[in-house]
Amino acid sequence: MKKIAVFASGVGTNLQAIIDAIESGDLDAKIELLVCDQEGAFCIKRALKANIPTFVFTAKHYESKAAYEQDILQQLQEFNIEYIVLAGYMRLIGHTLLHAYQGKMVNIHPSLLPAFPGKDAIGQAFTARVKRSGVTIHFVDEGMDTGPIIAQQEVDLDDNETLESFEEKIHAVEHKLYPAVLQRLFSEGKTSV
Ligand code: GAR
Repeated sequence: MKKIAVFASGVGTNLQAIIDAIESGDLDAKIELLVCDQEGAFCIKRALKANIPTFVFTAKHYESKAAYEQDILQQLQEFNIEYIVLAGYMRLIGHTLLHAYQGKMVNIHPSLLPAFPGKDAIGQAFTARVKRSGVTIHFVDEGMDTGPIIAQQEVDLDDNETLESFEEKIHAVEHKLYPAVLQRLFSEGKTSV
């Protein structure tokens, strides 16, 4: 069973999907730690409810990215974390964590990368009126939503689609795809594509 840390910044519906997949036996992993950079974010409540320890930090209280990542790294080592799973963590990962978890850190992004990286990818695709967008899961590198792609799933943007219905479709795909891809990744032990 893989020991993982989930990093999140917001509501944490992907965190919840991973918690649920572990509880139902579909994902052979244990979330040892939630790392969150936003005090009061709803993902913290989800973790506490599932008895997952949390490390919540405020980036501006540190003098550099290296300084807060060093604190995070210490936590990860205390919990013997094998994989970092980014689930709506809205910060670029720096050298400290990349160096320690090369090939052992994955991210989910709500578009077919390399299209629409960064914030509000669903809104970006909707505004561009593309025929289809989707979800990407990839290994993390120093870029924003870059890194070798592990899996992608397309989601159609229908003619009568509203932003809300499109968001719902994308999130529904995320919540199934992420646990399934993590399970495959952990069982195969792949660190590159
Ligand atoms: C998810 O849609 C995730 O793909 C996206 O943030 C959302 C978090 O939702 N991540 C990115 O945009 C990364 N660039 P959640 O907090 O409900 O899981």
